[in-house]
Amino acid sequence: MTKVLSVASECVPLIKTGGLADVAGSLPAALAPHGVEMRTLVPGYRPVLKAVGRRKQVAQWDDLFGGFARVFRGKLGEQVLYVLDAPHLYDRDGGPYSDALGRDWPDNPERFAALSSAAAMIAADGIEDWFPQVLHCHDWQAGFAPLYLRELGAGDRVATLMTIHNIAFQGIARPAMISPLGLPRAGFNEKGYEFWNNISALKAGLVYADKLSTVSPTYASELMTEEFGKGLDGVLRERQEDLVGILNGIDEELWCPPYKSPAGKAKHRKALREEMGLPDWPGPVCVLVSRLTEQKGLDILLQALPALLDRGGQLALLGSGDRDLEKAFLGYADAHPGVATVIGYDEALARRLIAGGDAILVPSRFEPCGLTQLYGLRYGTLPLVALTGGLADTVINASPAGLAAEAATGVQFHPVTAQALAQALMKLVKLYQDRATWTRMMKNAMAAPVGWDQSAAAYAALYTEMVKPA
Ligand code: ADP
Ligand code: GLC
Repeated sequence: MTKVLSVASECVPLIKTGGLADVAGSLPAALAPHGVEMRTLVPGYRPVLKAVGRRKQVAQWDDLFGGFARVFRGKLGEQVLYVLDAPHLYDRDGGPYSDALGRDWPDNPERFAALSSAAAMIAADGIEDWFPQVLHCHDWQAGFAPLYLRELGAGDRVATLMTIHNIAFQGIARPAMISPLGLPRAGFNEKGYEFWNNISALKAGLVYADKLSTVSPTYASELMTEEFGKGLDGVLRERQEDLVGILNGIDEELWCPPYKSPAGKAKHRKALREEMGLPDWPGPVCVLVSRLTEQKGLDILLQALPALLDRGGQLALLGSGDRDLEKAFLGYADAHPGVATVIGYDEALARRLIAGGDAILVPSRFEPCGLTQLYGLRYGTLPLVALTGGLADTVINASPAGLAAEAATGVQFHPVTAQALAQALMKLVKLYQDRATWTRMMKNAMAAPVGWDQSAAAYAALYTEMVKPA
């Protein structure tokens, strides 16, 4: 068994703001059949500790970035979970990164440096007589771990993998934090963790980890371009030999449609229309479940929506985030009977939307992988997506060739403009009206491989290749 410690700031079912949680939560079980024992380290936020309890303490430090900290052992399904309890950093109301009003916690640099540091110490010293061979770091919150590991002198024993789930978040801190974060001053330069005169936790990960990965092959190549690299494309181009794209999978037990064939959807569509107060128009019920941010392209959806509504389509949206977008979608729903908006975060409603919808919309400007289009495929809820990142890799477009080959599973559009999206929506309605074609596409979608199998094998092979000789 290859032993891997995964470090993540969120993890289903304990704490989630986005897809990272789904991935961190489902990867360990997916890896087990591939000869990998993955244990996971997460911060002891209130809801996490509440779920896991404080029974089995397996490590402690008197001073971890300003306070006492310890590690409790819990379970993530059949796998081991380690929870970093550091009350001065994590025991508070609000979300993992921000307070109840949405303001970032001012001590985020320390909070996630602590997570990274604990991970590095566990990797260097072992825990419960378990000695990880690979330290798998997710996003900027774990970005300092490879550097701390080197500082502990264990960089030649334990291999490190840095995975980029989203390069838009980089973990920036002021240079005054170099010493409070325990970073080696010598690394504060262009070749190290310095980024435009600040500290960047993500860049630290990209520079000091042995291997880099991201969550789809297309995003791996996009990241190396100025358009998508958010200033780190140069660093990634330099390391392109070490960078791979491995698609996310979904937990097929957690995301399992309540029907076996396309015909089973009708009753869920009806129930959804009733629940959301949508009219019984002849067009497709489109759904959307998303963080409301610039990334997701929802501003252009607002402009393109008439193309759907004028043709009898409807939209039910569940999301939260940017206050202006929230207001805009609420206002739009007030003014248009074909649109329903729910602002909030609701896993159960997300499932009902995906089960009852005919199509799921993902008009993102960039999308490292995207999970909702994968849920859509599995539920025969055809994805209409922008041609970018993981959306390009997971959906087969209803192009003449895709349709002729009877392989199409959705609709892709490009560029990400209101005009191109409006055209894609019109195409969607047309396809929907052709019942035979639509049903064929639903069948293709429901049969598409969206589980972890292939990708778990790819991670397992990567870890094996990375393990350093004892
Ligand atoms: P990202 O990680 O960029 O937010 P993904 O598509 O990878 O995008 O993952 C988003 C995850 O969060 C999905 O599991 C999606 O269902 C879920 N999600 C997003 N917003 C909401 C919401 N308002 N309510 C319930 N689930 C949501
Ligand atoms: C990020 C990305 C999303 C991806 C998720 C899990 O939040 O925005 O595309 O699916 O991470 O890897």
